[in-house]
Amino acid sequence: MPLRVRLTLWYGSALAMVLITFSVVLYVITARNLRDDVDESLKETAATAVRSLEERGFLPLLDEEDLLSQFPELARIDKFFQIFSPSGTITIRSPNIKRHEVPLSQKALETAFLGQSLFETTKYPNEPQLRLISVPITYRGSLLYIVQVGTSMESIEDTLRRFLILLIVAVPIALAVSLAAGWFLAGRALRPVDAITLAAQRIAGGDLSQRLTMQTASDEIGRLAGTFNNMIGRLEASFRQIRQFTSDASHELRTPLTVMKGETELVLRRPRPLEDYHTVLESNLEEIDRMTRIVDELLFLSRADMGAVKMELLPVSLETLVEDIHRQATLLGQDRTIAVVLGAMMPARVQGDELRLRELLLNLVENAVKYSNPKGTVTISLMTDGQQAIVSVTDQGIGIAPDDQHKIFNRFFRTDEARAHTKKGTGLGLAICSWIAETHKGRISVQSELGRGSTFTVTLPLAPHPA
Ligand SMILES: Nc1ncnc2c1ncn2[C@@H]1O[C@H](COP(=O)(O)OP(=O)(O)OP(=O)(O)O)[C@@H](O)[C@H]1O
Ligand SMILES: [Mg+2]
Repeated sequence: MPLRVRLTLWYGSALAMVLITFSVVLYVITARNLRDDVDESLKETAATAVRSLEERGFLPLLDEEDLLSQFPELARIDKFFQIFSPSGTITIRSPNIKRHEVPLSQKALETAFLGQSLFETTKYPNEPQLRLISVPITYRGSLLYIVQVGTSMESIEDTLRRFLILLIVAVPIALAVSLAAGWFLAGRALRPVDAITLAAQRIAGGDLSQRLTMQTASDEIGRLAGTFNNMIGRLEASFRQIRQFTSDASHELRTPLTVMKGETELVLRRPRPLEDYHTVLESNLEEIDRMTRIVDELLFLSRADMGAVKMELLPVSLETLVEDIHRQATLLGQDRTIAVVLGAMMPARVQGDELRLRELLLNLVENAVKYSNPKGTVTISLMTDGQQAIVSVTDQGIGIAPDDQHKIFNRFFRTDEARAHTKKGTGLGLAICSWIAETHKGRISVQSELGRGSTFTVTLPLAPHPA
């Protein structure tokens, strides 16, 4: 069942319940009030009559005229008046009891002997109800008369009947109108949901550039749309990244294959001296090494993406590690007369996987040497600030343009300067470095000036002190 229908039905049933309860309560209270009013006025009239009789010294009334002159209010047609003797027989009655006798009930008589008044309701066929009050008049302990005042409930019954009809007609109309309004409002409130559904369908159809445009950004629907847009944005970005990655990867693998194929075809075209084959095979081996490295690194990265790379977290002495790397890097720099020196050194222990950390630092130092100019200096230093270990690798090499500085951590990204500087390199090293830094809850950042050199800084949380 559509949400709109359900909302309207829920709302409708709640409203119907409220309306019906309200109407019933209203009807009951109104009826009770009307009856109370009648009783009150009967009581007053009876009291007046009793008072008048007392003033007259309880002399029996003789005829109707006498009666009417005594009690002018009886001329009002809505009440009648009777006086009974203690035996229950009528001594006198007002002329407006026309249709039939209204005898004194047994109960009224009994109550009168007890000296109490009694309200009664009687009903004759095809007539409205009668409401009666019987009031005893006693003198020195003995019952003299019973005064009875009565009135027809006709007008009250009429009023209540009209009120009931009004309720029976008005409640369904009010319900119908509110249901229509509820239906309209639910439709209005749900319209943005329809818009979201439509957009989601378009997006599911493959158009990730679609976004939802919602005017009211701060309500629930607006927030939903915002979240949705965010999600689509991230999906789009990651799809683009995957596409880019695939094409970069294929491109990187194609280049060595093309080289190998060209060289092999060339050497096979005619018989050649043995050295030529040797040269080609050697060159092929180099390309195969290069491809192997790319494939290894890709495999590592994709396993890292899937969370399948296991890391052994143990205390590692960064000082020892940095000194080790320094020795290795000195050898790397020798060929190109690049000096690798140690800067400030402080003892620091971190919790981590030593092999991965070594890979991280070696990658940075390799880059520094690779992108240095001959006779340049590379400085490695290790400092702590009480909470973090800070390893920095500084070179005086080609540097990185500000626009490129955030891209160099992307897979396969290499700056134009780096490509011009050296053919070696796939652009995967820093991607691996930043993954390693992140899994150690650390960060890696770069400061660089084009043509002047770069500093790569790795911060890692220090291992907690042994207790
Ligand atoms: N010390 C540096 N000086 C200047 N540019 C650098 C430096 N380190 C990295 N870069 C830039 O960042 C890019 C990415 O570095 P990264 O280490 O990921 O790849 P690479 O060194 O080109 O190849 P490899 O995967 O073999 O390490 C480099 O191609 C280069 O453009
Ligand atoms: Mg590198």
